[in-house]
Amino acid sequence: MLVTYLILLGLSSTLALDNGLALTPPMGWLTWERFRCITDCKKYPKECISENLIRRTADRMVSDGYLEAGYQYLGIDDCWLEKERSSEGRMVPDKERFPNGMKAVADYIHSKGLKFGMYEDYGNKTCAGYPGVLNHEKVDIDTFVEWEIDYLKLDGCYIDPEKMDEGYPSFGKILNKTGRPILYSCSWPAYQEDAARKPNYSSIAEHCNMWRNWGDIEDSWASVVHIMDWFGDNQERLAQHAGPGHWNDPDMLLIGNFGLSVDQARVQMAVWAILAAPLLMSVDLDTIRPEFKEILLNKDIIAVNQDPLGKQGSRVWKKQGQASKNHLEIWNRELHDGSNAVAFVSTREDGSPYATTFDFYQMKLKDGDYEVHDLYKDEEIRYLKSGEEFEVRINPSGVKFYKFIPKNSKAALQDSKTDTNTVSDPVVNAVLLS
Ligand SMILES: *[C@@H]1O[C@H](CO)[C@@H](O)[C@H](O)[C@H]1NC(C)=O
Ligand SMILES: *[C@@H]1O[C@H](CO)[C@@H](O)[C@H](O)[C@H]1NC(C)=O
Ligand SMILES: *[C@@H]1O[C@H](CO)[C@@H](O)[C@H](O)[C@H]1NC(C)=O
Repeated sequence: MLVTYLILLGLSSTLALDNGLALTPPMGWLTWERFRCITDCKKYPKECISENLIRRTADRMVSDGYLEAGYQYLGIDDCWLEKERSSEGRMVPDKERFPNGMKAVADYIHSKGLKFGMYEDYGNKTCAGYPGVLNHEKVDIDTFVEWEIDYLKLDGCYIDPEKMDEGYPSFGKILNKTGRPILYSCSWPAYQEDAARKPNYSSIAEHCNMWRNWGDIEDSWASVVHIMDWFGDNQERLAQHAGPGHWNDPDMLLIGNFGLSVDQARVQMAVWAILAAPLLMSVDLDTIRPEFKEILLNKDIIAVNQDPLGKQGSRVWKKQGQASKNHLEIWNRELHDGSNAVAFVSTREDGSPYATTFDFYQMKLKDGDYEVHDLYKDEEIRYLKSGEEFEVRINPSGVKFYKFIPKNSKAALQDSKTDTNTVSDPVVNAVLLS
């Protein structure tokens, strides 16, 4: 049945990049948010962008269960290059920090069952000032293929955003010609959203597996709220372009670093799951505290993020109260089995847990009876009958995140067994038609 409607979705959606990758939002780990451009390995041996950091992260991703949970890409962001190309015009990895070259790093990552992500910039220089790919597209792509990378984030510093409408697609075409499946992460719209004219997301979804829409995330609650606000305010434009193979990217997970409390980290994980966002950790996996690790490894929330229907959810209700009292919002995502993932978020930072009730209209739930599962498992299973109000009690700058499972749909799904040729399931039809 799953296969059937992936095919149906493929037929019904508009043109989109079809390289067989990112059928669900990519999951992995990236250096940037936590380790930035730390290059001094003498002063900061555990934090500098280096083969050592990548190796120990690869080890942790496997031994601590992240790979098993779905986090498969291990990516280096900016600051891995020497400042100059070689005499033949090739990219050269920093000789002290990557003493064995990038192929050795790739081999190690692959030996662990992980996939290798790399970073470059479409312009003259990367954002941190290292050599960019402009006028070296072919040789750089050949080099990446020699290194056997699986994922490429192509940033957009030091290039006119007007040039990106042609530049990113043409780079993607060269990537495609190599025959190596490489997940293509574009920063194209992030630079155009800043500029005068709006990005053409139809074209972006045709050429990229994922794309950074907007500014960089910073290690703070304010930054998370800012990004949530922006994605909520622009969801009419953005959400329609997400789907299997192509995703909006609100940027890395801050979870486990310095700026978010446990409650705030739970908010980011919940809203990123609703947004069908790539889940890219950026944290020291040697020292992460267990309560943050637990959030990152929450199987039920990962399942929401990875839901095969691939439909991006949205902010369905918002109330901005006076005196910072009721800053509440509801986010809702439809899932393939006819259920809904619903996050109740409080963005207020003061006070104590706040209890209130919501009706079906506010939660944007279809009429019916529901079984309600708390995805953070603080509460027992609850039942909500048609027409009743639902009570939630939310911590300041916190979230309650539930899966609402319609009573009938569960029964229907259990009855429909393994019919793979037709979409006979009424619930699935309802989802497809809605
Ligand atoms: C890139 O650098 C070259 C040579 O320095 C310069 O001529 C060109 O204008 C630069 N291009 C951009 C887009 O900055
Ligand atoms: C190249 O593009 C074609 C057509 O979209 C696609 O079928 C194929 O999988 C792509 N190959 C790679 C390596 O990206
Ligand atoms: C946006 O891109 C699509 C697909 O490439 C194209 O058909 C359309 O004309 C573009 N729209 C604008 C306004 O340029």
